Amino acid sequence: GPVQDLVGTRVVVTAGGTREPLDPVRFLGNRSSGRQGIAIAEAAAARGADVVLIAAHLEVPPPGGVELREVSTALEMQDAAAAASADADVIVMAAAVADYRPVEVSEGKIKKDDRGDSMTLELVRNPDILAGLAAAKRDGQLVVGFAAETETDRARQLELGRSKIARKGADLLVLNRVGWNEGFATERNEITVLDSTADIVLEFAGSKVSVAHRILDVIAERL
Ligand code: C5P
Repeated sequence: GPVQDLVGTRVVVTAGGTREPLDPVRFLGNRSSGRQGIAIAEAAAARGADVVLIAAHLEVPPPGGVELREVSTALEMQDAAAAASADADVIVMAAAVADYRPVEVSEGKIKKDDRGDSMTLELVRNPDILAGLAAAKRDGQLVVGFAAETETDRARQLELGRSKIARKGADLLVLNRVGWNEGFATERNEITVLDSTADIVLEFAGSKVSVAHRILDVIAERL
């Protein structure tokens, strides 16, 4: 098996995509499958860590050997992440969290006969979970964010990553490109990892499992 370099380390990983309900049968969601977060949780457990996986709507089965906490909305994920991170050494926010949620959740199914030919949804900003955890960070705790960008220009992608890690206050930021056919549903991933000074500490492309191990290598050497 892999090197046991995370024994005694408590790792919290979020994975999947949140769903924000509109009514009892509908939601606003995203295309995150949860694969990269699951791979990180599984790899961390294989390296000896105690892992809590906070999962929102995974498209693939969760791994064994981790403590699973299932959530649905961004607000539920925020509560679960806050509770789990109290005694965590590492927090990896790989989940795709909805930036907005509907202001009103309809008690009954929204009916087109009531709404007519067009309808408008009013949305409100969700809290930024990662920024909140980074702001509340204890000494020695490592907070890792993800940034999925559709930007194709490399320089522009790095610029977005640099401003994002500064804005969020994370220790590490994993940049990956997503698009209609990239990132989400696939088995492969291509990443760039930035540290808090916005230096590139890793560039890697491979399976989501090998990407997970490379990210954990960077984390392990910083613990
Ligand atoms: O700002 P953006 O959504 O691109 O940031 C992505 C990173 O922030 C991911 O690590 C994601 O899990 C996290 N995030 C969050 N809460 C939000 C939105 C994103 O923790 N409301």
